[in-house]
Amino acid sequence: MQSCDELLQKNKVWAAKKQKEDPDFFNRLADKQSPKFLWIGCSDSRVAPEIVVGAEPGDIFMHRNIANQVIHTDFNCLSVLQYAVSILKVEHIIVCGHYNCGGIKAALDKQRSDLLITNKWLMHIKNTYRLHQDEIDAFDDQNDRFNRLVELNVVEQIHALSHTSVIQESWRENGGPTLHGWVYGVHDGIITPMITLKATDEINPIFQYRQVK
Ligand code: CO
Repeated sequence: MQSCDELLQKNKVWAAKKQKEDPDFFNRLADKQSPKFLWIGCSDSRVAPEIVVGAEPGDIFMHRNIANQVIHTDFNCLSVLQYAVSILKVEHIIVCGHYNCGGIKAALDKQRSDLLITNKWLMHIKNTYRLHQDEIDAFDDQNDRFNRLVELNVVEQIHALSHTSVIQESWRENGGPTLHGWVYGVHDGIITPMITLKATDEINPIFQYRQVK
């Protein structure tokens, strides 16, 4: 892909092919969406969510940011989460990180003075590193350290989801959604599941909402 003209040209080809294969395809999607999945992924161009899981338009509600983070002061991500859970009633939420993540690598380096805003976004990953510093530093190879932090970051985001009022309320009232932490291999295209949390799992008491009587 080299130019925007090429993108628009390929779009016309795609839409025509889709219409030919399934004449009702766009009609079905025109009025409403009912995806079963919310995907929270990294912005990285190598991880194209629908493509790597063979999904179609309408299948996956999506939020992407640098290093697939769920930050409790990020109203962008939280709005997506609330709409997905409360209105669309998705059955599964997937946080998908990926090996060789540039955001994770940057977080394990000094802060860059030319990326003052991005530094702040990466600060949360630095804190996850501090939480698991002994385990991560035990690896001799720097790539192994990066990739272990990729895995731990995904696990951390699943816990962060379980700490939100949106998830706790939905777990209590609907018994779902189930939370899945995955890591995608940009080197082989394979997804490795790391963690699953569901409504019956115990949340650390300090993150539980107190029930108002
Ligand atoms: Co990334």
